[in-house]
Amino acid sequence: MDTTFISNVKTLTQLTEADCQLLKEMKPAIEKHAAALVEAFYAHLEQFEHLAKLLHAEAGRIERLKGHLRQWLIGLSDGEYGESYFARRYRIGFRHVEVGLEPFYVIAAMAFCRAKAAEMIIEAEYADDPHKTERTVALNRIMDIDLNVMLQSYDDHRVQQFLNVTGFSRALFETLMAG
Ligand code: HEM
Repeated sequence: MDTTFISNVKTLTQLTEADCQLLKEMKPAIEKHAAALVEAFYAHLEQFEHLAKLLHAEAGRIERLKGHLRQWLIGLSDGEYGESYFARRYRIGFRHVEVGLEPFYVIAAMAFCRAKAAEMIIEAEYADDPHKTERTVALNRIMDIDLNVMLQSYDDHRVQQFLNVTGFSRALFETLMAG
């Protein structure tokens, strides 16, 4: 991924070195609660018929997804967020384009993860911690960064799909978008 994009996203989201350190420290707590959070995540999505169909469209998909989400969640506490971290998030965004999931579902699902992480990780492990607020802010910042990259991936891939279907050049598309 473009290193300017990476650095802009981090700077604008205000992800600091102190945030990275706090996130790194939180890895064992995230690992401890990952399985319960993953179960809650898919139980939530399964309530919606369209999403439940997608989650079970292939044999073994839901089990695979649980493993993916667990890895993703634990990865939030890597503490280092460089090119390979961004490339992975970009690829995750693309996978959702491939399966035909509208981006608003991903945004709503991130809101669910955020709320559950506050309840199942922060409240469970850091209720009396002096850095509780900073931990919550750090976790929110990295989730916002992930969402940002995933949505950038949606945008790029959907524009590309449009160009492929219409035969428009990127230059023409950009001229039209610029009004
Ligand atoms: C916070 C939001 C979400 C995160 C972090 C997330 C995470 C992931 C990850 C890590 C993968 C694997 C990507 C890969 O193969 O490289 C994946 C794939 C997928 N996700 Fe999500 N996801 C989110 C929201 C959703 C929602 C709302 C749905 C709705 C049903 C969904 C359905 C799927 C499906 C169907 C796949 C493809 C599975 C396959 O390859 O068989 N995801 N997701």
